Amino acid sequence: MVIKFKEQFSLGVASAATQIEGGECGHNWNDWYAKGKIKDHSNPARATDHYHLWKEDTDLMAKMKIQHYRLGIEWARICPKEGKVDDAAIAHYREELLYLKEKGIAVLLTIHHFTNPMWFERKGGFTKKENLKDFLDFVELVVNSFGDLVSEYITINEPNVYATNSYYFGEWPPGEKSIRKAVRVMSNMAICHIKAYQLIHHIRKEMGYQDTKVSFANHVRVFDPQKSTNIWHRTCAKLLERLFQGAITEAMTTGNFTWPLKKEKKTSRGEYLDFIAINYYTRSTVSGFADGTKEDAPKNDLGWEIYPEGLIRCTDKIYQLLERPIYITENGTCDNLDTFRSKYIYEHLKVISESKLPITRYYHWCFCDNFEWVEGESARFGLVYVNYETQERTIKTSGKFYTRMIEENGITEEMYKEYVEPQRYHE
Ligand code: BGC
Repeated sequence: MVIKFKEQFSLGVASAATQIEGGECGHNWNDWYAKGKIKDHSNPARATDHYHLWKEDTDLMAKMKIQHYRLGIEWARICPKEGKVDDAAIAHYREELLYLKEKGIAVLLTIHHFTNPMWFERKGGFTKKENLKDFLDFVELVVNSFGDLVSEYITINEPNVYATNSYYFGEWPPGEKSIRKAVRVMSNMAICHIKAYQLIHHIRKEMGYQDTKVSFANHVRVFDPQKSTNIWHRTCAKLLERLFQGAITEAMTTGNFTWPLKKEKKTSRGEYLDFIAINYYTRSTVSGFADGTKEDAPKNDLGWEIYPEGLIRCTDKIYQLLERPIYITENGTCDNLDTFRSKYIYEHLKVISESKLPITRYYHWCFCDNFEWVEGESARFGLVYVNYETQERTIKTSGKFYTRMIEENGITEEMYKEYVEPQRYHE
């Protein structure tokens, strides 16, 4: 064997509601599209039409032997208006969750993955403390509605990515460029996570369940100085790491709010993760207060450096903060022609299998190509190819490789020769 997976290690796939479901749901990405902000003008109302094709997609997942599925639900669909609940949407998700169970696919449910209903967005979303109750009401509704079917939850996906893209770079809705607001959103989302963590445990306990597991999906990247001998590069790398991920990780994990976040009186110190959830993609090479990329390094189709060791470097830091089992809740790459994805997967699984960290799950991002936020349909991350015109799905070579790994519980010599060896990254 080239790689033999450890005992209790299993493979899954991930997705997010807005990126696959399609539909005019009255959310901030429907609105962002209407404002002409999607680079390739593709419409999230199309996406992969998963809201109608969920059964076919689940069958395909089962055919590919997928063991774990991280999926999201659409807040704007469930609560189309403030204070209003759409029972049909709840019934729809229950049907999907039941079907996944029937197929033997274990679910990890994401409650918030970047998208807000417009009624929430219009009143200031997560920038305002008084709005946080709306999110917590939604959490309560979700657990009351699906708590009998779901024991594992991600409260919020990548609050740092959401806050910076939406409120600092202004590239995502609502398109603001204020560092103060971005920091405030991070703080407020940390409060939301802590409160949601307690709420989910409380509700499920009342329901009689003891197996509840809750975390948030933490987007972490390596920040390395461009020149390790340059003090300015080193200082900027440290600063960016703290601003982007260090402070928020600490706040959400232990309730300790430190600079640039303000001290928080509404929450107390504690342990707010039952497992560590890592979303890892790349490294930033820093020479100033902006994102940079290492020259002469392998890159994906969006220009992101491919740096597998970074996954362990980042995960290790978080494990030092709180020792918990680790799930890689996202890892994947934009490879439009699927010519290096298998190599990418192999290299990331290799560092995982060589590490002593208790990493027990790997969810590949993503199951099928989907609506990649401002990149639209032009950036393909899936194990399954989607023809958006016909909505036909075709398993890619990397998808076949993935199934083989599940069957073999690792990578054999023959698989390595067939899927990995012929592949090359572009520089
Ligand atoms: C997000 C996904 C996104 C992926 C690739 C992650 O940061 O959670 O929604 O599609 O990265 O960009």
